[in-house]
Amino acid sequence: MEAHPRKLRLAPSLLSADFGALGEAVRAAEKGGADAFHLDVMDGHFVPNISFGPALVRAVRQRTRLPMDIHLMIDDPLRYLDAFRKAGGDSLVFHLESRSDPAEVIREGHRLGATVGAALRPDTPIEAVDRWIEKLDQVLVMGVHPGFSGQKFIPETIPKIRSARERLDRIGSSADLSVDGGITPSTAIPAAQAGATFFVCGNSVFAGGSVDDNLRSLRASVEEGARHEVR
Ligand code: DX5
Ligand code: ZN
Repeated sequence: MEAHPRKLRLAPSLLSADFGALGEAVRAAEKGGADAFHLDVMDGHFVPNISFGPALVRAVRQRTRLPMDIHLMIDDPLRYLDAFRKAGGDSLVFHLESRSDPAEVIREGHRLGATVGAALRPDTPIEAVDRWIEKLDQVLVMGVHPGFSGQKFIPETIPKIRSARERLDRIGSSADLSVDGGITPSTAIPAAQAGATFFVCGNSVFAGGSVDDNLRSLRASVEEGARHEVR
C-alpha cells in the first residue's frame, strides 16, 4: 500500500507581526494561505523574554477560524492550560524542559479537548521525547534557542528532525512534526526533506516583503523538500 502523502502546513508566528496591527497581520496571512497560527507565550523565566498571555490569544481567536497553536515557553505550563484552552487554543505545546510533569500536561490538555505537543530546546536530545511519544499529537523541534524571532537556524536541527521522523514512523504515529525558529525558504527545504510537516515561520512571513509572496515561496520550498525526503 502506498503511504499517504503527509499534510504540510505553514503556521505564521504572530510574534513577528506588528502588535499594533495584529488583525491585519492575521487577515494577510489567511489570505496568503496560512494553515494555522502559532502563538508564542513567554513568561520571562523559562525564556529571557516576555510576550503575551490568554487575552491576546482570545483577541486573535475572534479574528480567525484557523487552528491556533499555542507554544508555551513558560515554567509551569500545567497551570495555564485551561486559560489558553478557554482563550481558544487548539493545540497546546509545552516544553519537556519545563517544571510540569509531562504525563499530567498531556492528560490535562486532552481532557480539555486540545491536541498536545511537546517541544524540545536545541540542547535537549530527541531521546527525551521517547517516553511520551505515543500520547503526543505533535513533536516540536526548535531550530533556535527559544525567546526571540529572527534568529539564525541551527543546522544540527536537521538530523534531530530526521530522528524525530524515524521515531514517529516506527510507531505509526501521524503526529505533526513541527520545526520552529529560523525557517526561511532555504532552511525549509532541508527541514521538509528530513520529514517535518508543520512549519512555524515568523520573520520570514512578517518582517519584510509581502505576506502573500513570503508564504508562496515558503510553500514552494516545503513542497520541494517533501518531494525529496532524505532518510
Ligand atoms: C522563538 C519562537 C518562534 C519564533 C519564530 O522562541 O518560538 O516561534 O517566533 O520566529 P522566526 O521564524 O523569525 O525564527
Ligand atoms: Zn514558537
